[in-house]
Amino acid sequence: MFETSWPHKIVCGENAIRYLEGYSAKRAAIVISGSFRKNNAEVWATLDGIMKKNGTAFREIEGPGREPTLTYCKEAAKDMIDFQPDLILAVGGGSTLDAAKVMEIYYEHPDITDEQIKARFALPKIRAKARHIAVPTTSGTGSEVSPFNVVYMDSGNAAMPQVKVGIADYQTIPDVVLLDPSFTFSAPPAVTASTGMDAFVHAIESYTSAKPANFFTDLHALEAMKLTLKWLPVTYKEPRNAEARSNMQIAATMAGLSIASRGTGLAHGVGQQLGPLFGVPHGLSVSIVLEAVMRFNAPLALKRYAEVARYVGLGGDSDEKSLENLMTKIIALSEELKFPKKLGDLDIDKNFYLSKMSVLVQNALENGGTKFNPRVPNAAEVEGIFMSLV
Ligand SMILES: [Fe+2]
Repeated sequence: MFETSWPHKIVCGENAIRYLEGYSAKRAAIVISGSFRKNNAEVWATLDGIMKKNGTAFREIEGPGREPTLTYCKEAAKDMIDFQPDLILAVGGGSTLDAAKVMEIYYEHPDITDEQIKARFALPKIRAKARHIAVPTTSGTGSEVSPFNVVYMDSGNAAMPQVKVGIADYQTIPDVVLLDPSFTFSAPPAVTASTGMDAFVHAIESYTSAKPANFFTDLHALEAMKLTLKWLPVTYKEPRNAEARSNMQIAATMAGLSIASRGTGLAHGVGQQLGPLFGVPHGLSVSIVLEAVMRFNAPLALKRYAEVARYVGLGGDSDEKSLENLMTKIIALSEELKFPKKLGDLDIDKNFYLSKMSVLVQNALENGGTKFNPRVPNAAEVEGIFMSLV
């Protein structure tokens, strides 16, 4: 037996935003990334027009601009509590979408404690006050279909002052997801590349996860990888190519559906540690360690990697050859996207990096992705992955 949990509706393609026309809501809280709002006057005008035509009063709540903290979500939710929306409309990248989902929990339960909100899959009932619609402006995080929401909290540890907390509950999955390519046109090439590779890493890590596979996860992951390899380079070079943007939105959402059931792996376990201390964007951080992680996993995940290679059309007359073909393709894509490879390319001081190694390794070992990696590493092996960047 297996189960999956998805939004009620996913609307894809050009003008998907028009789904909102005639949508019945009295008051909408629009959680929106400030930079997106500033750079997308035309898209905003469309949304503004739809809201006014519908007779929906709305209040904008500015997104966090980076990975949200629990404190930010709690504070921003006060605006919702004041405005009492019956629709929460989140417009932004993964951080904004995650923040809107966590804000909703505080909107529904203003007195919820840190312990209660952190309890995995044990939230009190939500979605009683408002429906929730997500409109992603980047393609990669999968937040629009994910029950996992990333926030940061103060750790009390000076070596790594903030720690990531996953607020997890299937109830937080949006009711409706609108994948309108025009909402991703303004994403800069570096953001397009980083978030797009995040989708690829979600797909390959969920495809090889130690959690049980099923038809839905396998097909979503495989197709997400095929689409990403084909369309990510196009979106990188042609930001206003609607067909390419739309296919990357679908790839990211399918990869998100796959990780919602099977989780990620060691590239996330290691890569995510590079964000809080060194400011490496999430998608980039998990991509730059992917090659080392795949080499580490290969003894136990060879067959699955070979299946990926064949599905995406890279062939190979043995599993080993298929894996090499896949690695070559991933490395070529990273070069095409002008990804940095080493610490020096990322402007990270080597001595500072080495001084943080024990906390990096410890946090990576405790990460949920690491625990479900197809080959569970020890501390020395995790350190080896971190050292691949030196
Ligand atoms: Fe990710």
